[in-house]
Amino acid sequence: MATPKEEGPKSNETWNDIKSMLDEPDVKKLFTTQQLSDQDAVKNNRVAIYNGLKNDDDLRKKGYSYKFAAWVLDELKLNDEELKSDQTKIDSNHGVTYLGDIKPMFTDCDQWNMKTKRGLDLHDYTAVVKNYGPIYGKVKNRSMPMGGPKWSDIQINMLPAWKYEGYKDSSPQAKNNTDVMSYMEPYFPEYKIDGVQANENNLKEALDQNKNFDGLTFDFHIKPMFALGHRDKMFDVTSGHIDLHDFVSVNEEKVNILFKLTLPNIMKSGKKRMPQRNPWPKKNIYLFYAWAKQGETSKKGVTSTIKDEYNPNDLENPKTDLGKMHSYYVYYRDLPDIHKDS
Ligand code: HEM
Repeated sequence: MATPKEEGPKSNETWNDIKSMLDEPDVKKLFTTQQLSDQDAVKNNRVAIYNGLKNDDDLRKKGYSYKFAAWVLDELKLNDEELKSDQTKIDSNHGVTYLGDIKPMFTDCDQWNMKTKRGLDLHDYTAVVKNYGPIYGKVKNRSMPMGGPKWSDIQINMLPAWKYEGYKDSSPQAKNNTDVMSYMEPYFPEYKIDGVQANENNLKEALDQNKNFDGLTFDFHIKPMFALGHRDKMFDVTSGHIDLHDFVSVNEEKVNILFKLTLPNIMKSGKKRMPQRNPWPKKNIYLFYAWAKQGETSKKGVTSTIKDEYNPNDLENPKTDLGKMHSYYVYYRDLPDIHKDS
């Protein structure tokens, strides 16, 4: 589910990229030598190759069918007739659909920002089809989502794969899934615990042992986890009361923010875990709590010191700020992580 984030604009898939992908033993064995003999053969057999790549679970998960579709659309410049004819021959299994694949890549914050700032509703099928070109262009040159974790190459290539398949709205499996969970992961900073990059396990262990979190600061670790879209939306809906990029505001509101990040039920209760339908993975939430529990005033930057540490006895006192945050943490710690494949 999680895919690495790449830096810089994504270039078109070239014939060389495709050739080396098709040369891999796991790919080669799916096709005849004739089908892959040269660029013209690959072009002529493109639908069979696309179907083969997408029907292989491992290769599809590695993004190979999406990559191939990006090459077909960006480089082969099919005319409308060729495109339509291809679409009639593409297998319907494992198809890329708006509801199942494309919509979940647009977070609620993306949708809210683009709707209020540019009048483009990314959660509306028709609007996304109509604006396919500019949307693909913006995510491909990684200027969008603005101020947020950029899409990986695999995610970007899903857009041309969706177009290649004829902009399907929903597959039978996705039909009832009207409240789609987004799977765009927030940024996670470099932070080491005993020399090891922080992760879900070592953070939990350190929190359970009530360890100190040296060098954990708002400027370097906490602020970057809040994407600009998330910051703008919260700023607006709280009429400027909560600014997730402002140290004073986040420090003052940290008990409330941790409460919102750890809310148990995402869909059914009236209250919603933040960010709505795109909850953070556990490691981000643990890191936020680790920072928040440093003291009345947690560390802002590398030169900050903690003068007003919480009293460790307050951990078990739910009337205190530390006790409240601890109880949210303990409750949340035992919930399954929705970001894990299960
Ligand atoms: C994957 C998510 C997003 C996509 C696909 C996207 C797509 C686009 C597109 C196609 C445009 C050009 C439309 C036009 O000029 O009318 C645009 C412009 C813009 N978007 Fe987004 N957007 C995304 C997320 C965001 C977020 C999260 C923010 C705010 C934090 C944002 C703020 C803006 C602004 C201010 C502009 C106008 C300036 C510009 O064109 O660069 N967008 N976006």
